Amino acid sequence: MSSASAIVRSLAIGVLACLVGAAVIGASYDLAGARTTLLLLLPLAALVLVLAHWLAANRRRLGGLARQFRFGVIMVVGSILVSVWVAAFAMFLSHHDAVVVTVMATVIGAVALRVGEIVSRGVMSDVESLRDGLEAVGAGSRDTVVEVGGDDELAELAGSVNAMINRLGAEEAKREEADSARRRLVASVSHDLRTPLASLRLLVESIEDGVATGQTRDRYISQLRIHVSVLTGLVDDLFELSRIEAGDITWTMSRIELDSLVGDTVEAMRTEADILGVQVRAELPGDELLAEANPEKVQRVLFNLIQNAIRHTPADGSVTVRARSLSGEVEVEVTDEGSGIAPVDRPHVFEPFFRGGTDSSRTSEGAGLGLAISRAIVEAHGGRIWLEPADSGPGTRMRFTLRSPVPG
Ligand SMILES: Nc1ncnc2c1ncn2[C@@H]1O[C@H](COP(=O)(O)OP(=O)(O)O)[C@@H](O)[C@H]1O
Ligand SMILES: [Mg+2]
Repeated sequence: MSSASAIVRSLAIGVLACLVGAAVIGASYDLAGARTTLLLLLPLAALVLVLAHWLAANRRRLGGLARQFRFGVIMVVGSILVSVWVAAFAMFLSHHDAVVVTVMATVIGAVALRVGEIVSRGVMSDVESLRDGLEAVGAGSRDTVVEVGGDDELAELAGSVNAMINRLGAEEAKREEADSARRRLVASVSHDLRTPLASLRLLVESIEDGVATGQTRDRYISQLRIHVSVLTGLVDDLFELSRIEAGDITWTMSRIELDSLVGDTVEAMRTEADILGVQVRAELPGDELLAEANPEKVQRVLFNLIQNAIRHTPADGSVTVRARSLSGEVEVEVTDEGSGIAPVDRPHVFEPFFRGGTDSSRTSEGAGLGLAISRAIVEAHGGRIWLEPADSGPGTRMRFTLRSPVPG
């Protein structure tokens, strides 16, 4: 409410109270008495009310809450005393009555001040708890809990403050986690770039120095080309991963026939599987399996999963890709007959640059980005990708889902 309209409202209340008072006098005595009451009370009420607004607007000058409350009590008692003495002056009241009322009002005023102090003590302590809590938060604490004694607006405020502290803590923890993930990523990238770059430098130096000549030189050059293409692949993968994770997705979605996509991808992988002596097959339902997806990206996921499965399966083992329709989504599963993933590695396989095993027993020659990219792609499609629990069978069982197209 604007201050002007608040003052008008206060004055209206004052006028109404004076009119009621005058009416009571008029009914009890006579009209002249009513008019005199009105004339005496109206200016007094108006003055006190305007003064109260002025004080409220100048709260800063009054100091703390306790002092503001004391001013309020003093103004009420003061206006009672002034009205009593005005009445005595106008000879409505005897001198004796005026003294009695003055003493009574003063004593009650003093008691009211003390009552106010007692009542406001709880409020003051809650305000102090809030202040201390906020100061602690400002100083960096995130486990502060503000506790208040009342069940009022201050308690609501404390509730909001506590919720805010929790949110701040959670956001900071998330930021720290993201920071350390980024640091780990940078460390992994540097590590993965350094090794091929070192080989590249050696190869280039021996060509430059004329150490490698003839056939050796040609062999070095073809090794150079391989290193460069591995590095290019790594950088492309990283770029793609960071783009998808940043939500910078430019691909378009369409209604795709997942069954033929799975079939085609399995066929495309057959040569690599044959070389390793691994059988790869697709088990698909007879009818059409539709998904809302980008075919190239889904093929990339299938490729990563099937390639991992083939590479981790011993000769004579087999890899099976199944797809089925669930309510509102389609699920694809890639299973293999390899040795499975060690329990310590299971929670990490989707992390960028994670490669299973210890340094000497690395289970793959990849950069450890395949599953991270697959997860980013599947999640960007609104699907899920996961590793089935180890007790669901031997080998490894990876699954992912994609949304079915909306019918119609
Ligand atoms: N089918 C699988 N069988 C056993 N281990 C697997 C399989 N798929 C993934 N892994 C483990 O997960 C790790 C991460 O896989 P991925 O992200 O594709 O990276 P990369 O294949 O480049 O190592 C692999 O290094 C491997 O240890
Ligand atoms: Mg891989």
